[in-house]
Amino acid sequence: MIEPIRWNNGQLEIIDQTELPVTCKTLALHTASEVWEAIHSLRVRGAPAIGICAAYGVVTGFKERMPHTPATAQAAIEEIASYLAGSRPTAVNLFWALDRMRRVAREADGDAPEALEARLLEEAHAVFEEERGRCKAIGEHGAALLPDGAAMLTHCNTGPLATGAYGTALAAAFRAHELGRAIRVYADETRPLLQGARLTTWELQQAGIPCTLICDGAAAHVLRQGVIDVVIVGADRIAANGDAANKIGTYHLALAAAAHGVPFYVAAPISTIDIETPCGDGILIEERDGAEITHGFGRQTAPDGVDVYNPAFDVTPARLIEGIITERGILRPPCESAIAELFSETQEAAR
Ligand code: MRU
Repeated sequence: MIEPIRWNNGQLEIIDQTELPVTCKTLALHTASEVWEAIHSLRVRGAPAIGICAAYGVVTGFKERMPHTPATAQAAIEEIASYLAGSRPTAVNLFWALDRMRRVAREADGDAPEALEARLLEEAHAVFEEERGRCKAIGEHGAALLPDGAAMLTHCNTGPLATGAYGTALAAAFRAHELGRAIRVYADETRPLLQGARLTTWELQQAGIPCTLICDGAAAHVLRQGVIDVVIVGADRIAANGDAANKIGTYHLALAAAAHGVPFYVAAPISTIDIETPCGDGILIEERDGAEITHGFGRQTAPDGVDVYNPAFDVTPARLIEGIITERGILRPPCESAIAELFSETQEAAR
């Protein structure tokens, strides 16, 4: 089992995902700015993995500064958390994890910096462990959609690399495979950074799961051919009404799936649901450098000076989503009331 993220000998280590699938290189991150850069440059990516790294990033930044008094320690944590929050805008897990670290710091206000550091590390480990457990449960619920002989189509990368362990949409495939079912995963290559081609097929090959790589533009054609039983994708942020932001090209896929009567599911932990954002229009969509499209992987593929628009995510409206696979089961439409009910139960349980 690969370890995409780990805390080893007092430091954060990640697999540098920009080097895959050619090289599987471990990178140690020693400072908050190295963690910021790793998230921003997609060395570590995928909503849950970004949240986990940000939590460890707070510990890393705290160790780097090692403040001497409780007051300077509180100020340092706030500064580090605000800084890391600027690394990427769309995945809500980033802000969710940083808020957890801030809350822990506030609760330990007055403690000596050494005690606070230990508490922060404990919380970062808890974020990681909890995400692991959530993904495992998502895999269990998702596998119910993949009977023997099923073919699933997915977009981007939602396996261990994107989550620290197991995955979300891909966890369904891993679990079905573990249960001995003969399944196949069709993976969109996922332009422009090719997370599907570089990462998803790599993870599936390692697990011995049959997979077929297609270019993004082939998805509608493959759906029309009738070889796909279900589409399952991940999410970076799900609004309170069930609208789901995910890698650019996901909305296309949802429309094509609806046109061909193929059920379209989103798999995500509850930490990806942003109850404060009423609908998808309120989700900030990251725009990335146009060079990702014009000079992808070191080769110029568009003329000099061309105007480029490069949104990294899109929003799939809830009406196109057959269900949201969470660690607590599959939320069925109307997603808005299913989400509201889930959150009121969660708050009840936390009381
Ligand atoms: O830009 P990326 O590679 O971070 O985008 C990732 C995705 O869109 C994933 O589908 C999403 O984060 C879910 S990860 C379980």
